[in-house]
Amino acid sequence: MSVNQIRRLKPNEMIFNENDVGECAYLIERGRVLIYIKNKNDEIPLKVLDKGEVFGEMSLIDGSPRSAACRAIDDVQLLIVTKTQLTDRIVAADPVVRLLMQALLERLRAQNDRLRGKISSHSIPSIETLTAEKKAAVERIGLENRIAQGIEDKEFIPFYQPIYDLNTCEVRGCEALLRWLTKDRGIVSPAVFMDIMEDSSLILDAGKAVIEDSAADLDKMLSHFGADFFVSVNVSGRQFMTPDFIDHLKATCERFKVSPYQIKLELTERIMTEGKNVLNTLHECRALGFQLAIDDFGTGFSSLQYLAKMPITHLKIDRAFVMNLFTDNKSLVVVKSIIHMANLLGLKLIAEGIETREQLNLLRSLGVDQGQGFLFSKPLPLQDFNQLALKSAA
Ligand code: C2E
Ligand code: CMP
Ligand code: CA
Ligand code: CA
Repeated sequence: MSVNQIRRLKPNEMIFNENDVGECAYLIERGRVLIYIKNKNDEIPLKVLDKGEVFGEMSLIDGSPRSAACRAIDDVQLLIVTKTQLTDRIVAADPVVRLLMQALLERLRAQNDRLRGKISSHSIPSIETLTAEKKAAVERIGLENRIAQGIEDKEFIPFYQPIYDLNTCEVRGCEALLRWLTKDRGIVSPAVFMDIMEDSSLILDAGKAVIEDSAADLDKMLSHFGADFFVSVNVSGRQFMTPDFIDHLKATCERFKVSPYQIKLELTERIMTEGKNVLNTLHECRALGFQLAIDDFGTGFSSLQYLAKMPITHLKIDRAFVMNLFTDNKSLVVVKSIIHMANLLGLKLIAEGIETREQLNLLRSLGVDQGQGFLFSKPLPLQDFNQLALKSAA
């Protein structure tokens, strides 16, 4: 069946019958449609649908046969919604949303069965995938609840990875990287909780806490770093776009007596897709003195047009390019172009994920100012960070 095909019907013509296999859903472009079920010889009307309404979606969503019959009331024109058009979106949906949809459909089918005078008997195929789905959704809700509780109990704290001047190998600043200190599962990395936080509003509370903790810890980081020592904080798009983001940043700086110059906000290129106000907020941050870095540069959206417009101070070369510097010539080409572009735009560079001396030497020789990576240190809790920084300064 081709996409967006049209189906035309005369008055009283059947569109499909109860228990037919669902091939597609329909959007009414013209005319009215009657949805009904049969109880012995009686017809029980369920609903009259009009222009702009959708029907026949239930079978496509849960794979069960048609839950009701359907015919044209007058001259009707329908736009066909194909199975893939619907299922692609359902597969992409959050498992919890799918679970809710499934529950609603089951209730509606049971209601129709009651009207037919039957005990609900609809069978849902591939029960195995359904239970796996349900399990995933239930686990997800459980994890969301544990994360929310963890935020309240202050189990999420930033670790700090030192950022070095690549020429002098002195610590210049650090990046705050969130860790979940659980009682039962030890230290949990962002790979487990970050997507869940970012898909829900949990990131807003967690994001505020990271900013506050980082500002508070700056004061406890050794004073000999001097006034240009910075902490770099990852900020997700949703967090950046909350109306009180800047007020909270300012209030936090005042509360912990931190200069905005010591805080660098790491944003990804995707931030530019968050809407019209992004540029204003970026400018406002810069005007207040906060530094702005584009994180994971080169892996995402990378529109040069936007880059030139954004009032940023730093580009972070993504770990993936650094990792492949010696194994994939394209990575070297990309890194060289990023460096060239940064120089032209007057931006400073930070390389992520430096693991070997060879990578360090090459990046240094190409003119990259600063870097971080396991060659220097993993992200550390505050006390260990201070100890390491003390050693490196000695
Ligand atoms: P990112 O911002 O790109 O952070 C760099 C990641 O690379 C960190 O992973 C860091 O531990 C890791 N890394 C650093 N050096 C090396 C190295 O030499 N080798 C290897 N293999 N890895 C290295 P981590 O801490 O697991 O964080 C993962 C991601 O989670 C971060 O990627 C960031 O996108 C996100 N994230 C972490 N903390 C926060 C936060 O407070 N807020 C937000 N919005 N996102 C955060
Ligand atoms: P589907 O089960 O694919 O085919 C019949 C369609 O009728 C169904 O999708 C819904 O779009 C619609 N439908 C089923 N039950 C009702 C109801 N109780 N009220 C309104 N519409 C319904
Ligand atoms: Ca980062
Ligand atoms: Ca990265």
